[in-house]
Amino acid sequence: MSVLEIRSAAPEDAADIAAVVRESWLDANKNLIPVDSQRALTNSRSLSAFVAGEWNSIHIALVDGEIVGTVGVNPAGVIWMLYVLPAYQGCGVGSALYDAAIGTIKSTGQRKALLEVLAANENAVAFYRARGWVPEGRRTEHIPGFRFRRERESPAD
Ligand SMILES: CC(C)(COP(=O)(O)OP(=O)(O)OC[C@H]1O[C@@H](n2cnc3c(N)ncnc32)[C@H](O)[C@@H]1OP(=O)(O)O)[C@@H](O)C(=O)NCCC(=O)NCCS
Repeated sequence: MSVLEIRSAAPEDAADIAAVVRESWLDANKNLIPVDSQRALTNSRSLSAFVAGEWNSIHIALVDGEIVGTVGVNPAGVIWMLYVLPAYQGCGVGSALYDAAIGTIKSTGQRKALLEVLAANENAVAFYRARGWVPEGRRTEHIPGFRFRRERESPAD
Protein backbone atom coordinates (compact mmCIF):
# COMPACT_ATOMS: atom_id res chain seq x y z
CA MET A 1 0.00 0.00 0.00
CA SER A 2 1.30 3.48 -0.89
CA VAL A 3 2.07 6.00 1.83
CA LEU A 4 1.08 9.65 1.33
CA GLU A 5 3.06 12.26 3.28
CA ILE A 6 2.53 16.04 3.26
CA ARG A 7 5.45 18.12 4.51
CA SER A 8 7.02 21.56 4.18
CA ALA A 9 9.40 21.92 1.26
CA ALA A 10 13.15 22.26 1.70
CA PRO A 11 15.50 24.23 -0.58
CA GLU A 12 16.88 21.03 -2.11
CA ASP A 13 13.36 20.05 -3.26
CA ALA A 14 13.22 22.96 -5.75
CA ALA A 15 14.17 21.06 -8.91
CA ASP A 16 11.76 18.18 -8.17
CA ILE A 17 8.94 20.60 -7.37
CA ALA A 18 9.57 22.50 -10.62
CA ALA A 19 9.43 19.20 -12.54
CA VAL A 20 6.05 18.34 -10.95
CA VAL A 21 4.64 21.80 -11.73
CA ARG A 22 5.90 21.64 -15.29
CA GLU A 23 4.41 18.21 -16.04
CA SER A 24 1.11 18.90 -14.31
CA TRP A 25 0.76 22.38 -15.85
CA LEU A 26 1.51 21.17 -19.36
CA ASP A 27 -1.01 18.35 -19.01
CA ALA A 28 -3.75 20.59 -17.56
CA ASN A 29 -3.28 23.25 -20.25
CA LYS A 30 -2.52 21.12 -23.29
CA ASN A 31 -5.84 21.96 -24.92
CA LEU A 32 -5.99 25.54 -23.68
CA ILE A 33 -2.70 27.23 -24.56
CA PRO A 34 -0.68 27.05 -27.81
CA VAL A 35 2.38 24.77 -27.68
CA ASP A 36 4.93 27.60 -28.18
CA SER A 37 3.44 29.57 -25.31
CA GLN A 38 3.39 26.48 -23.11
CA ARG A 39 7.12 25.92 -23.65
CA ALA A 40 7.99 29.56 -22.97
CA LEU A 41 6.02 29.50 -19.73
CA THR A 42 7.46 26.31 -18.32
CA ASN A 43 11.19 26.81 -18.85
CA SER A 44 12.55 24.35 -16.28
CA ARG A 45 15.51 26.40 -15.13
CA SER A 46 13.61 29.62 -14.42
CA LEU A 47 10.80 27.65 -12.77
CA SER A 48 13.29 25.88 -10.55
CA ALA A 49 14.97 29.18 -9.62
CA PHE A 50 11.58 30.69 -8.80
CA VAL A 51 10.61 27.75 -6.59
CA ALA A 52 14.01 27.89 -4.87
CA GLY A 53 13.23 31.47 -3.83
CA GLU A 54 9.81 30.53 -2.44
CA TRP A 55 10.51 27.15 -0.87
CA ASN A 56 9.55 28.21 2.67
CA SER A 57 5.94 28.94 1.60
CA ILE A 58 5.52 25.60 -0.20
CA HIS A 59 4.13 22.23 0.90
CA ILE A 60 4.81 19.04 -0.98
CA ALA A 61 3.08 15.68 -1.23
CA LEU A 62 5.17 12.53 -1.39
CA VAL A 63 3.96 9.07 -2.31
CA ASP A 64 6.40 6.41 -1.18
CA GLY A 65 9.04 9.14 -0.93
CA GLU A 66 8.55 10.60 -4.43
CA ILE A 67 7.35 14.21 -4.80
CA VAL A 68 4.03 14.02 -6.67
CA GLY A 69 2.34 17.30 -5.79
CA THR A 70 2.84 20.77 -4.41
CA VAL A 71 1.03 23.87 -3.15
CA GLY A 72 2.14 27.33 -2.04
CA VAL A 73 0.52 29.83 0.32
CA ASN A 74 1.73 33.41 0.51
CA PRO A 75 1.49 35.63 3.63
CA ALA A 76 -1.59 37.40 2.22
CA GLY A 77 -3.54 34.12 2.23
CA VAL A 78 -3.21 33.46 -1.49
CA ILE A 79 -3.11 29.78 -2.47
CA TRP A 80 -0.94 29.26 -5.55
CA MET A 81 0.73 26.46 -7.46
CA LEU A 82 -1.57 23.58 -6.50
CA TYR A 83 -0.30 20.88 -8.83
CA VAL A 84 -0.42 17.10 -8.76
CA LEU A 85 1.32 14.84 -11.29
CA PRO A 86 -1.29 13.52 -13.78
CA ALA A 87 -0.62 9.89 -12.79
CA TYR A 88 -1.50 10.68 -9.16
CA GLN A 89 -4.61 12.82 -9.72
CA GLY A 90 -7.96 11.63 -8.41
CA CYS A 91 -6.39 9.78 -5.46
CA GLY A 92 -6.78 12.41 -2.74
CA VAL A 93 -3.34 14.05 -3.09
CA GLY A 94 -4.76 17.42 -4.19
CA SER A 95 -7.26 17.38 -1.32
CA ALA A 96 -4.50 16.67 1.19
CA LEU A 97 -2.36 19.54 -0.19
CA TYR A 98 -5.39 21.82 -0.21
CA ASP A 99 -6.12 20.98 3.45
CA ALA A 100 -2.49 21.76 4.32
CA ALA A 101 -2.77 25.14 2.57
CA ILE A 102 -6.00 26.00 4.40
CA GLY A 103 -4.39 24.87 7.67
CA THR A 104 -1.45 27.23 7.05
CA ILE A 105 -3.78 30.14 6.34
CA LYS A 106 -5.83 29.48 9.49
CA SER A 107 -2.73 29.07 11.64
CA THR A 108 -1.51 32.55 10.65
CA GLY A 109 -4.86 34.07 11.65
CA GLN A 110 -5.70 35.14 8.09
CA ARG A 111 -9.41 35.76 7.71
CA LYS A 112 -9.34 35.92 3.93
CA ALA A 113 -8.11 33.39 1.40
CA LEU A 114 -7.78 33.93 -2.32
CA LEU A 115 -6.67 32.10 -5.42
CA GLU A 116 -6.74 32.45 -9.17
CA VAL A 117 -7.57 29.73 -11.64
CA LEU A 118 -7.80 29.65 -15.42
CA ALA A 119 -11.50 29.98 -16.19
CA ALA A 120 -11.17 27.26 -18.84
CA ASN A 121 -9.56 24.78 -16.41
CA GLU A 122 -12.82 23.03 -15.60
CA ASN A 123 -11.30 20.31 -13.37
CA ALA A 124 -9.58 22.83 -11.13
CA VAL A 125 -12.59 25.16 -11.03
CA ALA A 126 -14.80 22.19 -10.03
CA PHE A 127 -12.26 21.19 -7.38
CA TYR A 128 -12.45 24.64 -5.73
CA ARG A 129 -16.23 25.03 -6.12
CA ALA A 130 -16.70 21.65 -4.37
CA ARG A 131 -14.77 23.16 -1.46
CA GLY A 132 -17.00 26.21 -1.18
CA TRP A 133 -15.06 28.73 -3.26
CA VAL A 134 -16.99 31.29 -5.30
CA PRO A 135 -15.93 33.63 -8.14
CA GLU A 136 -14.93 37.08 -6.95
CA GLY A 137 -13.78 38.68 -10.17
CA ARG A 138 -11.94 38.13 -13.40
CA ARG A 139 -8.84 39.37 -15.11
CA THR A 140 -7.43 38.83 -18.55
CA GLU A 141 -3.77 37.92 -18.89
CA HIS A 142 -1.61 38.06 -22.01
CA ILE A 143 1.11 35.58 -22.75
CA PRO A 144 2.98 35.31 -26.07
CA GLY A 145 0.38 34.77 -28.76
CA PHE A 146 -2.47 34.13 -26.38
CA ARG A 147 -4.96 35.82 -24.11
CA PHE A 148 -6.79 34.05 -21.33
CA ARG A 149 -9.13 34.75 -18.49
CA ARG A 150 -8.48 34.04 -14.86
CA GLU A 151 -11.15 33.71 -12.21
CA ARG A 152 -10.39 35.18 -8.82
CA GLU A 153 -11.95 32.93 -6.20
CA SER A 154 -12.52 33.21 -2.49
CA PRO A 155 -14.23 30.94 0.05
CA ALA A 156 -17.95 31.53 0.43
CA ASP A 157 -17.87 31.59 4.25
C1 LIG B 1 -6.91 20.20 -9.38
C2 LIG B 1 -5.96 19.15 -8.75
C3 LIG B 1 -4.90 19.86 -7.92
C4 LIG B 1 -6.77 18.22 -7.87
O1 LIG B 1 -5.85 17.27 -7.32
P1 LIG B 1 -6.25 15.73 -7.19
O2 LIG B 1 -5.15 15.05 -6.50
O3 LIG B 1 -6.65 15.19 -8.51
O4 LIG B 1 -7.50 15.86 -6.25
P2 LIG B 1 -8.22 14.72 -5.42
O5 LIG B 1 -7.79 13.35 -5.82
O6 LIG B 1 -8.06 15.09 -4.00
O7 LIG B 1 -9.69 14.86 -5.93
C5 LIG B 1 -10.43 15.95 -5.55
C6 LIG B 1 -11.64 16.14 -6.42
O8 LIG B 1 -11.32 16.53 -7.77
C7 LIG B 1 -11.97 15.63 -8.67
N1 LIG B 1 -11.00 15.41 -9.74
C8 LIG B 1 -9.67 15.44 -9.63
N2 LIG B 1 -9.09 15.20 -10.83
C9 LIG B 1 -10.09 15.03 -11.70
C10 LIG B 1 -10.13 14.75 -13.07
N3 LIG B 1 -9.02 14.59 -13.81
N4 LIG B 1 -11.34 14.65 -13.65
C11 LIG B 1 -12.45 14.81 -12.92
N5 LIG B 1 -12.48 15.07 -11.60
C12 LIG B 1 -11.31 15.18 -11.00
C13 LIG B 1 -12.25 14.39 -7.88
O9 LIG B 1 -13.39 13.72 -8.37
C14 LIG B 1 -12.50 14.92 -6.48
O10 LIG B 1 -13.84 15.31 -6.32
P3 LIG B 1 -14.36 15.98 -4.94
O11 LIG B 1 -13.90 17.40 -4.95
O12 LIG B 1 -15.84 15.86 -5.03
O13 LIG B 1 -13.71 15.21 -3.82
C15 LIG B 1 -5.31 18.27 -9.86
O14 LIG B 1 -6.31 17.75 -10.68
C16 LIG B 1 -4.27 18.99 -10.68
O15 LIG B 1 -3.09 19.01 -10.34
N6 LIG B 1 -4.68 19.56 -11.82
C17 LIG B 1 -3.73 20.15 -12.74
C18 LIG B 1 -3.13 21.41 -12.22
C19 LIG B 1 -4.15 22.46 -11.94
O16 LIG B 1 -5.02 22.72 -12.75
N7 LIG B 1 -4.02 23.11 -10.78
C20 LIG B 1 -4.84 24.19 -10.36
C21 LIG B 1 -4.22 25.49 -10.76
S1 LIG B 1 -5.14 26.83 -10.07
